[in-house]
Amino acid sequence: MIVGVDDKSLTENSAATNRTSLWGGRFAGGPSEALARLSVSVQFDWRLAPYDLAGSRAHARVLARAGLLDAEELGRVLAALDDLEAACASGEFRPTIDDEDVHTALERGMLERLGTLGGKLRAGRSRNDQVATDLRLYLRDHARGVAERLVELADALVEQAERHVDTPAPGMTHVQHAQPVTFGHWLLAHVQPLLRDLERLRDWDARTAISPLGAGALAGSSLPLDPVQVAKELGFTASAANSMDAVADRDFVAEFLFVTSLIGVHLSRLGEEVVLWTSQEFGWVELDDSFATGSSIMPQKKNADIAELARGKSGRLVGGLVAVLTMLKGLPLTYDRDMQEDKEPVFDAVDTLQLLLPALAGMISTMTVRVDRLAAAAPVGFTLATEVADWLVVKGVPFREAHEITGKLVALCVARDCALDEVSDEDLTLVSPHLDAGVRDVLSVRSALAARTTPGSTGPGPVADQLATAIDKLAGWRTWATEVVVPR
Ligand code: ARG
Repeated sequence: MIVGVDDKSLTENSAATNRTSLWGGRFAGGPSEALARLSVSVQFDWRLAPYDLAGSRAHARVLARAGLLDAEELGRVLAALDDLEAACASGEFRPTIDDEDVHTALERGMLERLGTLGGKLRAGRSRNDQVATDLRLYLRDHARGVAERLVELADALVEQAERHVDTPAPGMTHVQHAQPVTFGHWLLAHVQPLLRDLERLRDWDARTAISPLGAGALAGSSLPLDPVQVAKELGFTASAANSMDAVADRDFVAEFLFVTSLIGVHLSRLGEEVVLWTSQEFGWVELDDSFATGSSIMPQKKNADIAELARGKSGRLVGGLVAVLTMLKGLPLTYDRDMQEDKEPVFDAVDTLQLLLPALAGMISTMTVRVDRLAAAAPVGFTLATEVADWLVVKGVPFREAHEITGKLVALCVARDCALDEVSDEDLTLVSPHLDAGVRDVLSVRSALAARTTPGSTGPGPVADQLATAIDKLAGWRTWATEVVVPR
């Protein structure tokens, strides 16, 4: 844990410390106030500190193996890194506005602890490979946190689905009643995309688990370092194949933001449905008081603000993706300062999902489903018309004709304001000689649901199978989400 910083604490802290700069030898004076203010990133990149310290530990060990730090120096450097980490965690060490970025602040911390020895750690690396490494480590770590919250939301949906395997609902297309489904199947239709989002995070993680350390500024190092060993120590699967690519690309950032955007879009869609379900017009779902809001003027109101915020926050997630893609487009190799703009969107994406997902999970797990209203709505709007057409098909009528006949039957029901199963035997034969009283066997929601036995369909059998598979997969994802990826 690192104590956070804001503009005020950065400025206050500034007077108490001396300015550390990582460059300046060839400059006659310090940066202008305007440049310093534009350039500083420590107010947001400070959260990379634990990852920067982890990188420094691995780097110190590789310098020692290369004979560039002796055993005594290595011991002092590692002890200082531990001490600095503890001071960062307690808030005793804080960055100042004069620390350009997290790397500068932490170098100051090392110089304060070790004097000139603190300056040895910079050999063979650059902020360019450092920042790319820190961000990969941060994101790999936090992708797990996001995955954990996703699993919790999926768990909440699965638990509700288990309660409603037999609850009929009017499945819709175009927001028009279409065919009966079970509400459990409907809820699981929101779980499947979350399972794919989890897969996307894991796929992204495999490509992100590549260490840029060793690339230096862009060309690698003339010092006898060991990037492969460093990669291993930091939990990466390999070190970068090309030092220029290692510091120049942020595709792992854009891809992460695509995944979080898509998660946002999935949550937004779920949110929109909850907004509909809780309206007077639907009345399918009642939210628990602790997950709903009231109105300052209308005492009767109960609003689904969590669902609306889920819908709304998808905007900032997609916005972050667009910002980073636009920033990257046309950047010449290798590192360009534009890339400093890669961090805030991903930090915001992580924070947004960490905030939103638990609220959504709580809202879903505590909502009460109005089974009576759903069951009553299920057959409304002639949702069983397809059953009639299918019944005719089984009797050998070509579907084209069956569709036509059923359409006529629906028109008759509309004219008479009656349900499909209320048409008399005589009228059935008048609509078509193919129709008879036997068709009433398929004209119940129960029978329509029970008839759907093929894998993936809404019948009780396939839904039970789907539930079991989802529960099984979620158990696996829980394990993945809690794996430690960044060793100390
Ligand atoms: N704060 C910088 C960033 O986030 C670190 C890298 C700076 N490198 C440089 N050559 N100026 O991108």
